[in-house]
Amino acid sequence: MTAAIHERTAVITGAGSGIGRATALRFAAEGARLTIADIDEDGLAETRRQVEQRAASVESRVVNVADESAVADLVEAAHHRWGSLDILCNNAGITGGSYGPVTEEDADVWRRVLDVNLLGAMYGTKYAGRIMRDQQRGAIVNTASVAGIRAGAGGNPYSASKAAVINLTQTSACDLGQYGVRVNAVCPGLTETGMTRRVFDYAREQGKESKLGARCELRRYGRPEELAAAILFLASDEASFITGQALAVDGGNTASLNMPGMKV
Ligand SMILES: NC(=O)c1ccc[n+]([C@@H]2O[C@H](COP(=O)([O-])OP(=O)(O)OC[C@H]3O[C@@H](n4cnc5c(N)ncnc54)[C@H](O)[C@@H]3O)[C@@H](O)[C@H]2O)c1
Repeated sequence: MTAAIHERTAVITGAGSGIGRATALRFAAEGARLTIADIDEDGLAETRRQVEQRAASVESRVVNVADESAVADLVEAAHHRWGSLDILCNNAGITGGSYGPVTEEDADVWRRVLDVNLLGAMYGTKYAGRIMRDQQRGAIVNTASVAGIRAGAGGNPYSASKAAVINLTQTSACDLGQYGVRVNAVCPGLTETGMTRRVFDYAREQGKESKLGARCELRRYGRPEELAAAILFLASDEASFITGQALAVDGGNTASLNMPGMKV
């Protein structure tokens, strides 16, 4: 355990699965007090059970992050319960399931994806930002994506939403920096979670699992715990002079225009 977030209070959205669950478990192991939220009641209950097994203090709340008043209530409840709000992880996200070309776009899908991925993060930042501004301290970590940096890692609405999350990270960091509040993002590369399960199941069925990491310089895909470690770093005092940044945690996927191994 490090002292970096010991007894800090944290809200984590999308905590019912994948990267959000791994982050909740890592924060619990580091001694943080948690309010975890998700739209999926069962997944959230399972995360809560696993956090409680680690003897951490935890509250949970079923929340749709696309609902502004629900996010405002979530932040207020966490503040009321713990007496402070040190960390917010805007992590909930959806792909929208749309992978077609721009000529076939469906505006309803775009609205749905932007409502969750972008507005969800904005609502969290708006309400937690007010509390953190008044406290004169706080750290917000958004989960963006490599899809927000380069094309080809997700559907068009998803990619646009994640690029917007990176920009929201920068503009929020500018608005809140003077109050001692830091705002950063992680940009995961392909990581095995609920969101990507079908891709992994299909690849395994075809005996092509090793190909899934082939576009990464490290020649493998990511684990949720590796994202949780980066989120912990950005949320902690170890990152005390870092704000407005988007950290790719992607095995080198976005580092190169080449296919890995081209120079060998
Ligand atoms: N897995 C990857 O390869 C990958 C890559 C890049 C970015 N990401 C991002 O990581 C974040 C976490 O996703 P994950 O990979 O752990 O997937 P996941 O599907 O395992 O977890 C996402 C969680 O968000 C919740 N959620 C979805 N819509 C919600 C809403 N409206 N309100 C509240 N909760 C909601 C889901 O119920 C789920 O528990 C997402 O923002 C995703 O876009 C994932």
